[in-house]
Amino acid sequence: MPDTTITQITARRVWDSRGRPTVEAEVHSACGAVGRAIAPAGASRGSREAIDLRDGGERLGGMDVSRAVANVNSEIARRLTGMDATRQLEIDQALNALDATGNKARLGGNATVAVSMACLHTAANAAGEPLWRYLAQGESVRLPLPEIQIFGGGAHAGRRVDIQDFMVLCPGARSFAQALEWTAEVYRHAGLLMQSRGARFGVADEGGWWPAFDSNEEALEALVGAIERAGFVPGDEVAIALDIAASDFGRAGRYTLGLERRELDSDGLIELLLRWCEKFPIASIEDPLAEDDPDAFARFTRAADPGLQVVGDDFLVSDAALLRQAAAAGAANTVLLKPNQRGTLTETRQCWDAARALGYAGIVSARSGETEDTTVVDLAIGWQVGQLKVGSFARSERMAKWNAALRIEERLGSRARFAGASALGRTRAAPAG
Ligand code: PGA
Ligand code: ZN
Repeated sequence: MPDTTITQITARRVWDSRGRPTVEAEVHSACGAVGRAIAPAGASRGSREAIDLRDGGERLGGMDVSRAVANVNSEIARRLTGMDATRQLEIDQALNALDATGNKARLGGNATVAVSMACLHTAANAAGEPLWRYLAQGESVRLPLPEIQIFGGGAHAGRRVDIQDFMVLCPGARSFAQALEWTAEVYRHAGLLMQSRGARFGVADEGGWWPAFDSNEEALEALVGAIERAGFVPGDEVAIALDIAASDFGRAGRYTLGLERRELDSDGLIELLLRWCEKFPIASIEDPLAEDDPDAFARFTRAADPGLQVVGDDFLVSDAALLRQAAAAGAANTVLLKPNQRGTLTETRQCWDAARALGYAGIVSARSGETEDTTVVDLAIGWQVGQLKVGSFARSERMAKWNAALRIEERLGSRARFAGASALGRTRAAPAG
C-alpha cells in the first residue's frame, strides 16, 4: 500500500471561464502522489449554499480570492498535513470542524471544495487508478445521460430571457458518444437558425447561443425547430430540458417575467409551465419555483405528469437534510449535485445517498463559472449518478468535460453501458382510487 499521508497542501489563484479569480488546491502525499482541483463558481446561487469567499472591495470587482487561498496555505494545510488522503470522510469532517460556521463562511466553500476534491485526486493517483474507477470500487458503471444547453438565458445572459437554460437530452441515443453527436447537430442547427434570423450574437456564459428572443416561448419554438432541422423526432429521440432557475426572478410567491412584462403568482407560474409541458416535448424541468416557495414546488410536482423529471437545484443545494424535507413534502423527484454548494465531497455524497434511498434520481452538475477541471465527470460516473449537466456544446471548459466522458466510454469498450432515458427522475404515480 502506498503511503498516502499528506505531506504538503498548497493553493494558488487561477482564473475561471468568466475571467474571474478562483482557487486551485494541490495535495502532496508521502508516496509522491499529487492531486489537484479547482473550485468552480455559480452565478445563480441558492441562498443556502456554502459561502464562496471573496475579498470584496474595488479591485477585480471584489471577486479576488486571496483570503480563500491564504486559508488553504495556512490553517487548512496545518490541520490536514499528516492526515491520510484516502480518508475522505475524516478530511471533510476536519474541514468542517476547522471552519466551524456550518456554511464554510470563515474558510470559504471555494477553499474547502478545492482541497476536498484535490485529496480525492491524490488518493486515486496513489492507487494508480482513474478517478471514476477509484470511486466505483469495483461496481460496474454507466455513462451518464448528458443534459446540454442550446440557448443560455437568465443570469447567464444578462437576463435577456427569463428562463436560464434551454437544454436538450437524447433519450433515443444508444451511447454517450451518440448523444453528443446528436446534440452537436442540434446545437449547429440552432446556430444556423439564429443566423437566418439575423440574431446570432455569440454565446452566453455556458456556451449556449445568446438568446435573442422576444418571449420565452419563442425560444422553446426555436429549440423544437432546431431539433427537427437536425433530423430528430422531438421528444422520442431528442427532448427538451429546462432550468427555470425561478429563484432568480421570484420571491415570496411573486414571479416577474421581465421579458414578457408579466407578474405571476405561484399558481400562475405552475399553470404556465404545465402548459409548456403540454405544448413542447419537455422531459425535465429544474427549479420550476423559487427556493422560498416549497409548497408550490410540491404542488407543481404533484400536478405534473409523473414521467416529468422535476429537479431541485437552488431548492435543495445538494443538501441531504433539505432533500429529506422535500421528499416528505413530495417536492421534486431529482436532485442536482454540485460539490461547491456544500463545500466538501462527503456532504455532496451524503445528499446523493439520501436521494437514492428515497427514490430520487440525480444529476451531477458543473457551475456557470468553470475551468479545465473535470472532476464532476468522474463523480457522475464513479458515484453512478446517471446524468451529467455541464453547460453547452461550446467553450473548452465545457468540452473538456464532455470529452473526458467520451474517453471513459472508449476505455470501457464493450463493457460500456449508457444510462440513457432510464436515468431520468420520475414521480411514482399515485395509486389508483
Ligand atoms: P450557476 O447556474 O452555476 O450560475 O449557479 C447553474 C444552474 O443553475 O444549474
Ligand atoms: Zn439550476
